[in-house]
Amino acid sequence: MSYAIVGFGKIGQALAHAFARKNIDVTVASRRPPEALAPQARAIGPTVVAKSLQNAVEADTIILAIPFWEHREVAKALPSWEGKTVIDATNVFPVPEELDGLPSSAFVAKAFTGAKLVKGFNHLIAATLAADPIVEGGHRVVFLSSDDEDATAPVAALAKQLGFAPVKLGKLNQGGALVHARGRTWGQLIFQDLFKKEQ
Ligand SMILES: NC(=O)c1ccc[n+]([C@@H]2O[C@H](COP(=O)([O-])OP(=O)(O)OC[C@H]3O[C@@H](n4cnc5c(N)ncnc54)[C@H](OP(=O)(O)O)[C@@H]3O)[C@@H](O)[C@H]2O)c1
Repeated sequence: MSYAIVGFGKIGQALAHAFARKNIDVTVASRRPPEALAPQARAIGPTVVAKSLQNAVEADTIILAIPFWEHREVAKALPSWEGKTVIDATNVFPVPEELDGLPSSAFVAKAFTGAKLVKGFNHLIAATLAADPIVEGGHRVVFLSSDDEDATAPVAALAKQLGFAPVKLGKLNQGGALVHARGRTWGQLIFQDLFKKEQ
């Protein structure tokens, strides 16, 4: 399984730290050329490698760590996302009317035709997400939700590998509503920093 993080700002770098901590290879990309990202990638760890967006999307699993509306640009990087898993770590707040009442990740999923989309790693502030998820007494919880049942298991396995305790919430508009904003209200689990004894 190969991994890429698209967006190398606060959340992208927080996730890169999580991969580096466990020596798992990950590509990072943004609109800037890889040379511009390379010093920061190297500073995080040797398993974090900056590439162009076009090369990054060759990975099997792509994590979106970009401003919400930029998902439409990133989706254009491939004609079809068949066979790919997309982990949507984006949030949008307040929720714009253009989403037609859809959970924001269901709106994102529409742009990534053919991909298996899982919402995850979106509910913590970046500084918390960057910290070691293994603390005395437990593993930091990340919430996963998806309309595609088969998609969640490999993402849960990745979350575990990174040291997090994944908690599956079910479909995007059911349990997933807890980690989506609605109008001007954050979902109840957003920013909740929780721990589980067992992964
Ligand atoms: N910050 C938080 O605490 C937090 C917490 C939970 C969720 N989130 C969500 O996570 C997402 C990222 O937030 P952030 O705080 O990390 O933002 P950020 O610090 O502004 O970083 C955004 C990154 O996306 C890149 N980017 C923008 N447009 C792009 C495009 N079209 N293609 C490729 N890369 C692009 C930017 O780099 P270039 O300018 O070089 O392209 C930058 O590296 C947002 O959706 C936010 O709602 C943030």
